[in-house]
Amino acid sequence: MPVTVVVGTQWGDEGKAKVIDLLAESHDYVVRYQGGHNAGHTVVVGDQKYALQLIPSGVLYEHVVPVIGNGVVVDLPTLFKEIDTLESRGVSCARLKVSSLAQLIFPWHQALDALIEGQRGDSKIGTTLKGIGPAYADKALRVGIRAGEVRDIARFADRVRERAAAASELLVARGGQSVDVDEVVTTFTALAKRLAPYVADTVNVLHDALDDGHEILLEGAQATFLDIDHGTYPYVTSSHPIAGGATVGSGLGPRDISRVVGITKAYTTRVGAGPFPTELTDARGDAIVDIGKEFGTVTGRRRRPGWLDLVMLRHAVRVNSLTEFALTKLDVLDDFDSIDVCVGYTVDGVSLRGYPDDVDVLGRVTPHYVSLPGWKTALRSCRSYADLPAEAKAFIDLVEREVGIPVSIIGVGPGRDECVVRS
Ligand code: GDP
Ligand code: IMO
Ligand code: MG
Repeated sequence: MPVTVVVGTQWGDEGKAKVIDLLAESHDYVVRYQGGHNAGHTVVVGDQKYALQLIPSGVLYEHVVPVIGNGVVVDLPTLFKEIDTLESRGVSCARLKVSSLAQLIFPWHQALDALIEGQRGDSKIGTTLKGIGPAYADKALRVGIRAGEVRDIARFADRVRERAAAASELLVARGGQSVDVDEVVTTFTALAKRLAPYVADTVNVLHDALDDGHEILLEGAQATFLDIDHGTYPYVTSSHPIAGGATVGSGLGPRDISRVVGITKAYTTRVGAGPFPTELTDARGDAIVDIGKEFGTVTGRRRRPGWLDLVMLRHAVRVNSLTEFALTKLDVLDDFDSIDVCVGYTVDGVSLRGYPDDVDVLGRVTPHYVSLPGWKTALRSCRSYADLPAEAKAFIDLVEREVGIPVSIIGVGPGRDECVVRS
Protein backbone atom coordinates (compact mmCIF):
# COMPACT_ATOMS: atom_id res chain seq x y z
CA MET A 1 0.00 0.00 0.00
CA PRO A 2 1.44 3.28 -1.11
CA VAL A 3 0.63 5.66 1.76
CA THR A 4 3.20 6.69 4.40
CA VAL A 5 2.43 8.83 7.44
CA VAL A 6 5.07 10.97 9.14
CA VAL A 7 4.18 11.85 12.72
CA GLY A 8 5.92 13.73 15.55
CA THR A 9 6.37 11.56 18.64
CA GLN A 10 7.26 14.20 21.24
CA TRP A 11 6.03 17.82 21.65
CA GLY A 12 6.79 19.05 18.14
CA ASP A 13 9.79 20.37 16.18
CA GLU A 14 11.33 16.90 15.93
CA GLY A 15 12.58 17.55 12.40
CA LYS A 16 9.47 16.21 10.65
CA ALA A 17 9.92 18.54 7.66
CA LYS A 18 13.47 17.38 7.02
CA VAL A 19 12.35 13.74 6.96
CA ILE A 20 9.34 14.58 4.79
CA ASP A 21 11.61 16.39 2.35
CA LEU A 22 13.82 13.30 2.27
CA LEU A 23 10.92 10.88 1.68
CA ALA A 24 9.08 13.22 -0.72
CA GLU A 25 11.59 12.47 -3.45
CA SER A 26 9.94 9.06 -3.92
CA HIS A 27 6.34 10.25 -3.50
CA ASP A 28 3.87 11.97 -5.82
CA TYR A 29 1.64 13.78 -3.29
CA VAL A 30 2.49 15.31 0.10
CA VAL A 31 -0.54 16.11 2.24
CA ARG A 32 -0.79 18.20 5.42
CA TYR A 33 -3.61 16.61 7.44
CA GLN A 34 -4.13 18.81 10.53
CA GLY A 35 -3.03 21.93 12.37
CA GLY A 36 -2.41 25.23 10.69
CA HIS A 37 0.18 27.99 10.71
CA ASN A 38 1.09 27.12 14.30
CA ALA A 39 3.48 24.65 12.61
CA GLY A 40 7.00 25.73 11.67
CA HIS A 41 8.60 23.21 9.32
CA THR A 42 12.20 23.82 8.24
CA VAL A 43 13.82 22.33 5.16
CA VAL A 44 17.46 23.03 4.37
CA VAL A 45 18.78 22.37 0.86
CA GLY A 46 22.37 23.41 0.28
CA ASP A 47 22.67 26.99 1.51
CA GLN A 48 18.92 27.60 1.18
CA LYS A 49 16.62 27.39 4.20
CA TYR A 50 12.83 27.22 3.80
CA ALA A 51 10.54 27.79 6.80
CA LEU A 52 7.06 26.48 5.97
CA GLN A 53 3.90 26.89 8.02
CA LEU A 54 1.02 25.72 5.83
CA ILE A 55 2.47 24.52 2.53
CA PRO A 56 3.46 20.83 2.64
CA SER A 57 7.19 20.20 2.93
CA GLY A 58 7.29 18.28 -0.39
CA VAL A 59 6.71 21.52 -2.35
CA LEU A 60 10.40 21.84 -3.21
CA TYR A 61 10.18 18.89 -5.63
CA GLU A 62 8.63 19.74 -8.98
CA HIS A 63 7.07 16.28 -9.33
CA VAL A 64 5.22 16.52 -5.99
CA VAL A 65 1.62 17.74 -5.73
CA PRO A 66 1.32 19.55 -2.37
CA VAL A 67 -2.12 19.19 -0.76
CA ILE A 68 -3.62 21.01 2.22
CA GLY A 69 -6.06 18.41 3.51
CA ASN A 70 -9.52 18.78 4.98
CA GLY A 71 -8.22 18.51 8.57
CA VAL A 72 -6.16 21.71 8.33
CA VAL A 73 -7.28 25.17 9.50
CA VAL A 74 -6.09 27.66 6.89
CA ASP A 75 -5.06 31.26 7.52
CA LEU A 76 -5.30 32.90 4.09
CA PRO A 77 -2.93 35.86 4.67
CA THR A 78 -0.23 33.40 5.82
CA LEU A 79 -0.92 31.01 2.93
CA PHE A 80 -0.48 33.71 0.29
CA LYS A 81 2.56 35.19 2.02
CA GLU A 82 4.11 31.74 1.95
CA ILE A 83 3.20 31.21 -1.71
CA ASP A 84 4.65 34.64 -2.64
CA THR A 85 7.87 34.00 -0.72
CA LEU A 86 8.35 30.56 -2.25
CA GLU A 87 7.58 31.77 -5.77
CA SER A 88 9.97 34.72 -5.39
CA ARG A 89 12.63 32.11 -4.59
CA GLY A 90 11.80 30.10 -7.72
CA VAL A 91 9.61 27.42 -6.07
CA SER A 92 6.35 27.08 -8.00
CA CYS A 93 3.18 26.60 -5.93
CA ALA A 94 0.90 26.29 -8.96
CA ARG A 95 0.28 22.60 -8.22
CA LEU A 96 -1.02 23.32 -4.70
CA LYS A 97 -4.48 22.00 -3.88
CA VAL A 98 -6.49 23.16 -0.87
CA SER A 99 -9.30 20.89 0.32
CA SER A 100 -12.78 22.33 -0.16
CA LEU A 101 -13.54 20.89 3.29
CA ALA A 102 -10.69 22.69 5.12
CA GLN A 103 -11.76 25.32 7.64
CA LEU A 104 -10.62 28.94 7.33
CA ILE A 105 -9.10 31.01 10.13
CA PHE A 106 -10.27 34.62 10.54
CA PRO A 107 -8.84 37.53 12.55
CA TRP A 108 -11.45 37.03 15.29
CA HIS A 109 -10.03 33.55 15.96
CA GLN A 110 -6.65 35.12 16.66
CA ALA A 111 -8.24 37.82 18.83
CA LEU A 112 -10.09 35.17 20.85
CA ASP A 113 -6.94 33.05 21.22
CA ALA A 114 -5.09 36.06 22.68
CA LEU A 115 -8.02 37.04 24.91
CA ILE A 116 -8.46 33.52 26.33
CA GLU A 117 -4.72 33.08 26.90
CA GLY A 118 -4.54 36.51 28.57
CA GLN A 119 -7.38 35.62 30.90
CA ARG A 120 -5.80 32.30 31.92
CA GLY A 121 -3.21 34.09 34.05
CA ASP A 122 -0.77 31.55 35.54
CA SER A 123 -2.45 28.61 33.80
CA LYS A 124 -1.59 29.81 30.28
CA ILE A 125 -1.12 27.06 27.70
CA GLY A 126 1.42 29.14 25.81
CA THR A 127 -0.37 28.81 22.46
CA THR A 128 1.14 30.24 19.29
CA LEU A 129 -1.72 32.84 19.28
CA LYS A 130 -2.55 31.88 15.68
CA GLY A 131 -6.25 31.29 16.39
CA ILE A 132 -5.96 27.52 16.07
CA GLY A 133 -8.11 26.58 19.09
CA PRO A 134 -10.96 29.02 18.30
CA ALA A 135 -10.99 27.94 14.62
CA TYR A 136 -11.33 24.25 15.56
CA ALA A 137 -13.94 25.25 18.17
CA ASP A 138 -16.03 26.88 15.42
CA LYS A 139 -15.64 23.71 13.33
CA ALA A 140 -16.94 21.62 16.26
CA LEU A 141 -19.78 24.11 16.79
CA ARG A 142 -20.58 23.75 13.06
CA VAL A 143 -20.37 27.49 12.40
CA GLY A 144 -16.96 27.51 10.66
CA ILE A 145 -16.43 28.69 7.10
CA ARG A 146 -14.86 26.17 4.73
CA ALA A 147 -12.56 26.74 1.76
CA GLY A 148 -15.19 25.35 -0.65
CA GLU A 149 -17.47 28.27 0.20
CA VAL A 150 -15.27 30.59 -1.88
CA ARG A 151 -16.83 28.98 -4.96
CA ASP A 152 -19.77 31.39 -4.47
CA ILE A 153 -18.18 34.74 -3.58
CA ALA A 154 -21.42 36.64 -2.84
CA ARG A 155 -22.57 33.93 -0.44
CA PHE A 156 -19.07 33.74 1.07
CA ALA A 157 -19.14 37.50 1.78
CA ASP A 158 -22.53 37.13 3.51
CA ARG A 159 -21.21 34.27 5.66
CA VAL A 160 -18.11 36.25 6.66
CA ARG A 161 -20.28 39.24 7.56
CA GLU A 162 -22.57 37.08 9.71
CA ARG A 163 -19.70 35.28 11.51
CA ALA A 164 -17.69 38.50 11.98
CA ALA A 165 -20.69 40.20 13.63
CA ALA A 166 -21.29 37.21 15.93
CA ALA A 167 -17.58 37.02 16.85
CA SER A 168 -17.50 40.76 17.51
CA GLU A 169 -20.36 40.42 20.02
CA LEU A 170 -18.61 37.53 21.73
CA LEU A 171 -15.29 39.37 21.92
CA VAL A 172 -16.86 42.49 23.40
CA ALA A 173 -18.84 40.40 25.92
CA ARG A 174 -15.56 38.81 27.05
CA GLY A 175 -13.86 42.19 27.49
CA GLY A 176 -12.10 42.29 24.11
CA GLN A 177 -12.17 44.61 21.09
CA SER A 178 -14.94 44.61 18.48
CA VAL A 179 -14.30 43.42 14.92
CA ASP A 180 -14.31 45.90 12.01
CA VAL A 181 -16.84 43.84 10.06
CA ASP A 182 -16.70 45.82 6.77
CA GLU A 183 -12.92 45.70 6.68
CA VAL A 184 -12.82 41.93 7.30
CA VAL A 185 -15.44 41.32 4.60
CA THR A 186 -13.49 43.40 2.06
CA THR A 187 -10.13 41.82 2.90
CA PHE A 188 -11.41 38.24 2.93
CA THR A 189 -13.49 38.60 -0.23
CA ALA A 190 -10.30 39.54 -2.07
CA LEU A 191 -8.41 36.64 -0.45
CA ALA A 192 -11.26 34.25 -1.32
CA LYS A 193 -11.02 35.18 -5.01
CA ARG A 194 -7.32 34.38 -4.90
CA LEU A 195 -7.97 31.07 -3.11
CA ALA A 196 -10.64 29.83 -5.55
CA PRO A 197 -8.30 28.31 -8.20
CA TYR A 198 -6.49 26.24 -5.57
CA VAL A 199 -9.65 24.73 -4.04
CA ALA A 200 -10.24 21.09 -4.93
CA ASP A 201 -12.13 17.99 -3.88
CA THR A 202 -8.90 16.60 -2.44
CA VAL A 203 -10.52 13.47 -0.97
CA ASN A 204 -11.42 12.24 -4.46
CA VAL A 205 -8.16 13.63 -5.91
CA LEU A 206 -6.16 11.48 -3.44
CA HIS A 207 -8.24 8.34 -3.97
CA ASP A 208 -7.98 8.75 -7.76
CA ALA A 209 -4.21 9.15 -7.32
CA LEU A 210 -4.08 5.87 -5.39
CA ASP A 211 -6.15 4.15 -8.07
CA ASP A 212 -3.65 5.44 -10.64
CA GLY A 213 -0.74 3.91 -8.71
CA HIS A 214 0.70 7.06 -7.12
CA GLU A 215 2.52 7.24 -3.79
CA ILE A 216 1.23 9.55 -1.05
CA LEU A 217 2.99 10.99 2.00
CA LEU A 218 0.85 12.34 4.85
CA GLU A 219 2.64 15.11 6.76
CA GLY A 220 1.84 15.52 10.44
CA ALA A 221 2.26 18.85 12.18
CA GLN A 222 2.69 19.22 15.97
CA ALA A 223 3.06 15.82 17.63
CA THR A 224 1.63 12.89 19.59
CA PHE A 225 1.92 14.60 22.99
CA LEU A 226 0.22 17.75 21.64
CA ASP A 227 -2.76 15.68 20.38
CA ILE A 228 -6.02 16.98 21.87
CA ASP A 229 -6.97 13.49 23.12
CA HIS A 230 -3.65 11.71 23.56
CA GLY A 231 -1.42 14.61 24.55
CA THR A 232 -0.81 16.27 27.90
CA TYR A 233 -4.25 17.94 28.02
CA PRO A 234 -4.89 20.86 28.45
CA TYR A 235 -1.32 21.69 27.35
CA VAL A 236 -2.00 20.53 23.79
CA THR A 237 -3.09 21.84 20.42
CA SER A 238 -6.69 21.49 19.19
CA SER A 239 -6.27 18.85 16.48
CA HIS A 240 -5.19 15.23 16.05
CA PRO A 241 -1.52 15.03 15.05
CA ILE A 242 -1.47 11.24 15.70
CA ALA A 243 -1.56 8.80 12.79
CA GLY A 244 -5.32 8.31 13.22
CA GLY A 245 -5.69 12.03 12.48
CA ALA A 246 -4.01 11.42 9.14
CA THR A 247 -7.01 9.42 7.91
CA VAL A 248 -9.55 11.89 9.30
CA GLY A 249 -7.64 14.86 7.91
CA SER A 250 -7.02 13.48 4.42
CA GLY A 251 -10.03 11.24 3.74
CA LEU A 252 -7.80 8.22 3.09
CA GLY A 253 -8.68 5.06 5.00
CA PRO A 254 -6.62 3.19 7.63
CA ARG A 255 -6.08 0.25 5.27
CA ASP A 256 -4.49 2.57 2.67
CA ILE A 257 -1.56 3.16 5.06
CA SER A 258 1.41 0.80 5.14
CA ARG A 259 4.15 2.79 6.81
CA VAL A 260 4.04 5.12 9.83
CA VAL A 261 7.33 6.87 10.55
CA GLY A 262 7.64 8.44 14.01
CA ILE A 263 10.05 11.35 14.25
CA THR A 264 12.01 11.87 17.47
CA LYS A 265 14.94 14.03 18.35
CA ALA A 266 17.86 12.36 20.15
CA TYR A 267 16.69 14.47 23.12
CA THR A 268 13.37 16.19 23.89
CA THR A 269 12.08 19.74 23.59
CA ARG A 270 8.80 21.44 24.37
CA VAL A 271 7.53 24.97 23.65
CA GLY A 272 4.82 26.36 25.87
CA ALA A 273 3.63 25.17 29.26
CA GLY A 274 2.97 21.67 30.62
CA PRO A 275 4.70 18.83 32.47
CA PHE A 276 8.05 17.61 31.13
CA PRO A 277 9.60 14.83 33.27
CA THR A 278 13.08 14.81 31.67
CA GLU A 279 13.42 18.61 31.46
CA LEU A 280 16.95 19.97 32.01
CA THR A 281 17.20 23.36 33.68
CA ASP A 282 21.00 23.31 34.01
CA ALA A 283 24.02 23.99 31.77
CA ARG A 284 23.44 20.73 29.85
CA GLY A 285 20.01 22.01 28.85
CA ASP A 286 21.51 25.35 27.79
CA ALA A 287 24.07 23.44 25.70
CA ILE A 288 21.28 21.51 23.92
CA VAL A 289 19.44 24.78 23.18
CA ASP A 290 22.60 26.52 21.92
CA ILE A 291 23.97 23.68 19.81
CA GLY A 292 20.55 22.51 18.58
CA LYS A 293 19.39 26.12 17.91
CA GLU A 294 16.23 25.33 19.84
CA PHE A 295 14.20 28.47 19.20
CA GLY A 296 10.72 28.30 17.64
CA THR A 297 10.50 28.93 13.90
CA VAL A 298 7.06 30.54 14.28
CA THR A 299 7.23 32.42 17.58
CA GLY A 300 11.00 32.63 18.21
CA ARG A 301 10.42 31.26 21.73
CA ARG A 302 13.23 29.30 23.45
CA ARG A 303 12.31 25.62 23.48
CA ARG A 304 12.56 23.84 26.83
CA PRO A 305 15.24 21.12 26.59
CA GLY A 306 15.47 17.67 28.20
CA TRP A 307 16.82 14.14 27.79
CA LEU A 308 15.27 11.59 25.45
CA ASP A 309 12.26 9.93 27.09
CA LEU A 310 11.63 6.36 25.95
CA VAL A 311 8.44 6.08 28.04
CA MET A 312 6.98 8.72 25.70
CA LEU A 313 8.29 6.97 22.62
CA ARG A 314 6.84 3.59 23.69
CA HIS A 315 3.46 5.29 24.07
CA ALA A 316 3.89 6.93 20.66
CA VAL A 317 4.53 3.48 19.14
CA ARG A 318 1.22 2.33 20.63
CA VAL A 319 -1.08 5.19 19.68
CA ASN A 320 0.34 5.68 16.18
CA SER A 321 1.06 2.06 15.14
CA LEU A 322 4.56 3.22 14.27
CA THR A 323 6.50 0.95 11.95
CA GLU A 324 9.85 2.73 12.53
CA PHE A 325 11.55 5.80 13.98
CA ALA A 326 13.60 8.53 12.37
CA LEU A 327 16.04 9.75 15.05
CA THR A 328 17.03 13.34 14.28
CA LYS A 329 19.64 15.77 15.63
CA LEU A 330 21.97 13.06 16.91
CA ASP A 331 24.85 15.41 15.97
CA VAL A 332 23.65 17.91 18.62
CA LEU A 333 24.94 15.50 21.30
CA ASP A 334 28.44 15.20 19.75
CA ASP A 335 30.25 17.04 22.56
CA PHE A 336 28.55 15.51 25.59
CA ASP A 337 30.74 13.36 27.89
CA SER A 338 27.71 11.30 28.84
CA ILE A 339 24.13 11.15 27.61
CA ASP A 340 21.14 10.17 29.74
CA VAL A 341 18.10 8.35 28.37
CA CYS A 342 14.92 7.90 30.40
CA VAL A 343 13.78 4.27 30.34
CA GLY A 344 11.05 4.29 33.00
CA TYR A 345 8.96 6.33 35.45
CA THR A 346 8.07 5.73 39.07
CA VAL A 347 5.38 7.50 41.05
CA ASP A 348 5.49 7.33 44.84
CA GLY A 349 8.06 4.54 44.48
CA VAL A 350 5.89 2.42 42.18
CA SER A 351 6.96 1.83 38.55
CA LEU A 352 4.47 2.75 35.88
CA ARG A 353 3.91 0.28 33.06
CA GLY A 354 2.52 2.80 30.59
CA TYR A 355 2.33 6.54 30.05
CA PRO A 356 0.14 8.12 32.78
CA ASP A 357 -3.32 9.30 31.71
CA ASP A 358 -3.24 12.25 34.14
CA VAL A 359 -1.04 15.35 33.73
CA ASP A 360 -0.85 15.84 37.49
CA VAL A 361 0.63 12.34 37.83
CA LEU A 362 2.97 13.08 34.90
CA GLY A 363 4.09 16.19 36.76
CA ARG A 364 5.06 14.02 39.76
CA VAL A 365 6.84 11.09 38.09
CA THR A 366 10.50 10.36 38.78
CA PRO A 367 12.30 9.52 35.55
CA HIS A 368 14.82 6.66 35.66
CA TYR A 369 17.83 7.02 33.42
CA VAL A 370 20.43 4.89 31.72
CA SER A 371 23.62 6.89 31.29
CA LEU A 372 25.64 6.21 28.15
CA PRO A 373 29.13 7.47 27.25
CA GLY A 374 29.21 10.21 24.61
CA TRP A 375 31.00 9.70 21.26
CA LYS A 376 32.90 13.03 21.34
CA THR A 377 33.20 12.98 17.55
CA ALA A 378 31.49 15.08 14.88
CA LEU A 379 28.78 12.95 13.22
CA ARG A 380 27.93 15.46 10.49
CA SER A 381 29.87 13.71 7.74
CA CYS A 382 28.52 10.21 8.52
CA ARG A 383 26.45 8.85 5.63
CA SER A 384 26.22 5.15 6.44
CA TYR A 385 25.55 3.23 9.63
CA ALA A 386 29.07 1.85 9.50
CA ASP A 387 30.44 5.44 9.69
CA LEU A 388 28.88 6.00 13.14
CA PRO A 389 31.10 5.60 16.22
CA ALA A 390 30.40 2.64 18.55
CA GLU A 391 28.95 4.93 21.27
CA ALA A 392 26.39 6.40 18.85
CA LYS A 393 25.44 2.87 17.73
CA ALA A 394 25.03 1.89 21.41
CA PHE A 395 22.63 4.85 21.85
CA ILE A 396 20.59 3.74 18.82
CA ASP A 397 20.64 0.09 20.01
CA LEU A 398 19.24 1.17 23.39
CA VAL A 399 16.41 3.10 21.70
CA GLU A 400 15.54 0.16 19.44
CA ARG A 401 15.63 -2.35 22.30
CA GLU A 402 13.41 -0.23 24.53
CA VAL A 403 10.82 0.82 21.92
CA GLY A 404 10.69 -2.47 20.01
CA ILE A 405 10.82 -1.04 16.47
CA PRO A 406 13.76 -0.08 14.21
CA VAL A 407 15.41 3.31 13.81
CA SER A 408 15.53 3.53 10.02
CA ILE A 409 16.74 7.12 9.50
CA ILE A 410 19.34 8.99 11.58
CA GLY A 411 19.76 12.77 11.27
CA VAL A 412 23.30 14.12 11.58
CA GLY A 413 22.74 17.70 10.39
CA PRO A 414 19.99 20.01 9.08
CA GLY A 415 20.81 19.58 5.38
CA ARG A 416 18.84 17.36 3.01
CA ASP A 417 21.75 14.92 2.60
CA GLU A 418 22.90 15.01 6.23
CA CYS A 419 21.46 11.70 7.30
CA VAL A 420 22.01 7.98 7.46
CA VAL A 421 19.30 5.84 5.87
CA ARG A 422 19.48 2.19 6.91
CA SER A 423 18.34 -0.30 4.32
P1 GDP B 1 9.42 20.17 12.56
O1 GDP B 1 8.45 21.17 13.08
O2 GDP B 1 9.27 18.82 13.21
O3 GDP B 1 9.43 20.06 11.07
O4 GDP B 1 10.88 20.68 13.00
P2 GDP B 1 11.43 22.20 12.91
O5 GDP B 1 11.76 22.47 11.51
O6 GDP B 1 10.53 23.12 13.65
O7 GDP B 1 12.73 22.08 13.84
C1 GDP B 1 13.75 21.19 13.57
C2 GDP B 1 15.06 22.00 13.38
O8 GDP B 1 16.15 21.10 13.42
C3 GDP B 1 15.15 22.70 12.05
O9 GDP B 1 15.89 23.88 12.21
C4 GDP B 1 15.90 21.70 11.16
O10 GDP B 1 16.64 22.34 10.11
C5 GDP B 1 16.85 21.11 12.18
N1 GDP B 1 17.21 19.69 11.93
C6 GDP B 1 16.44 18.68 11.45
N2 GDP B 1 17.12 17.53 11.49
C7 GDP B 1 18.34 17.82 12.00
C8 GDP B 1 19.49 17.01 12.32
O11 GDP B 1 19.52 15.79 12.15
N3 GDP B 1 20.56 17.68 12.87
C9 GDP B 1 20.56 19.04 13.10
N4 GDP B 1 21.64 19.59 13.63
N5 GDP B 1 19.50 19.80 12.80
C10 GDP B 1 18.40 19.19 12.28
P1 IMO C 1 5.45 21.81 14.57
O1 IMO C 1 4.55 21.27 13.50
C1 IMO C 1 5.93 22.81 18.81
C2 IMO C 1 2.34 24.11 20.94
C3 IMO C 1 2.31 25.55 21.45
C4 IMO C 1 1.45 25.36 22.68
C5 IMO C 1 0.42 24.31 22.24
C6 IMO C 1 -0.90 24.88 21.76
O2 IMO C 1 6.41 22.84 14.10
O3 IMO C 1 6.07 20.70 15.35
P2 IMO C 1 -1.68 26.17 19.56
O4 IMO C 1 -1.23 27.46 18.97
O5 IMO C 1 -1.54 25.00 18.65
O6 IMO C 1 -3.05 26.25 20.16
O7 IMO C 1 -0.68 25.92 20.82
O8 IMO C 1 1.04 23.60 21.17
N1 IMO C 1 2.62 23.97 19.49
C7 IMO C 1 3.78 23.54 18.99
N2 IMO C 1 4.94 23.23 19.60
N3 IMO C 1 5.82 22.64 17.47
C8 IMO C 1 4.64 22.92 16.84
O9 IMO C 1 4.43 22.64 15.55
C9 IMO C 1 3.58 23.43 17.60
N4 IMO C 1 2.32 23.83 17.30
C10 IMO C 1 1.74 24.14 18.47
O10 IMO C 1 3.60 26.00 21.77
O11 IMO C 1 2.20 24.79 23.73
MG1 MG D 1 8.44 23.07 14.01
